[in-house]
Amino acid sequence: MTAPMLEISGLTVRYGPVRALNNISLRVDRGTIVALIGSNGAGKSTTLKALSGLLDLEGGSISFEGEPIERMAAEKRVARGMAHVPEGRRVFPRMSVWENLQLGGYTRPESEISEDLDHVVSLFPVLGERRRQYAGTLSGGEQQMLAIGRALMSRPRLLLMDEPSMGLAPQMVELILETVTAIRDEGTTVLLVEQNAAGAIRLSDYVYVLRVGEIVHQSKGSEIDDELLKTLYLGHDL
Ligand SMILES: Nc1ncnc2c1ncn2[C@@H]1O[C@H](COP(=O)(O)OP(=O)(O)OP(=O)(O)O)[C@@H](O)[C@H]1O
Ligand SMILES: [Mg+2]
Repeated sequence: MTAPMLEISGLTVRYGPVRALNNISLRVDRGTIVALIGSNGAGKSTTLKALSGLLDLEGGSISFEGEPIERMAAEKRVARGMAHVPEGRRVFPRMSVWENLQLGGYTRPESEISEDLDHVVSLFPVLGERRRQYAGTLSGGEQQMLAIGRALMSRPRLLLMDEPSMGLAPQMVELILETVTAIRDEGTTVLLVEQNAAGAIRLSDYVYVLRVGEIVHQSKGSEIDDELLKTLYLGHDL
C-alpha cells in the first residue's frame, strides 16, 4: 500500500479561548480530489491555514509525502509542493494579471516561468487575453481563475482550495468546478473546501464533513444523500 500524500493526525487549533479544530484526522491520497465540507465556522479555512503553515497548532501532526511538516515555515511548504488558494480570492488588485501570476511563481526557476504561464493560460485563456489589465478590474469569476492560476504557478503537487465557487454566478461555479477536475486529471492532488456541498460531493473522490471543529462524517460522495447531509450539517436528526 502506498502512503497517503497528506496525512493529518489529531490536529487541534485554538484562537485564544476558541477551539476551532478539535483533534481532527484526515488523509488525502495522491491523484484524488478530497472535499472538506461544512457550514459557516466549522473550521474549514482553519484546516487549510494550518496545513499551509499560517497558524500555530495546539497539537497534532501533519505529514506531506511522508515528511512531517507541522513545524516547517509556510514558504518552505510551498517550495515542497503545496499551494493554497485562499478564501475570498485575494488577488493584488493594483497589479496586472501577469504580475499576480509571476508572484505565484516566486519559488520556481526563472527559466521555467514562461512555461508555467503558458500552462495557466491553457487552463484559463481569458487570463492571457487580460494579462496587462489590473487584477482589481476583473470580474469575480476571473479573479477566482487568477487566484487559482497564481497558486498553480508554483507547480504544486497538492493544491488547497478554499471555497473557489463562493459568490459566483451558477455558470461560473460550473466552470470553476470543472477546472478543479481538470487540475486533478493533470495529476495535481486537490483538497477542496466548499460550502457548496452538492457541487463538491459530485466531483470529489472522498468527502469529509466538518462541524464545529470535528469531523462528523467521512465516506465516498456517492454514500451521502440529502437527508444525511442535512443531519450532518444541523447536528441532529430531522
Ligand atoms: N482569527 C481568528 N480569531 C478568532 N477566531 C477565529 C479566527 N478565525 C476563525 N475563528 C473562529 O474559528 C472558527 C472556525 O473558523 P473558520 O474560518 O475555520 O470556519 P470556516 O469553516 O472556514 O467557515 P466559513 O464557511 O464561514 O468560511 C469559527 O468559530 C471562527 O469564528
Ligand atoms: Mg472559511
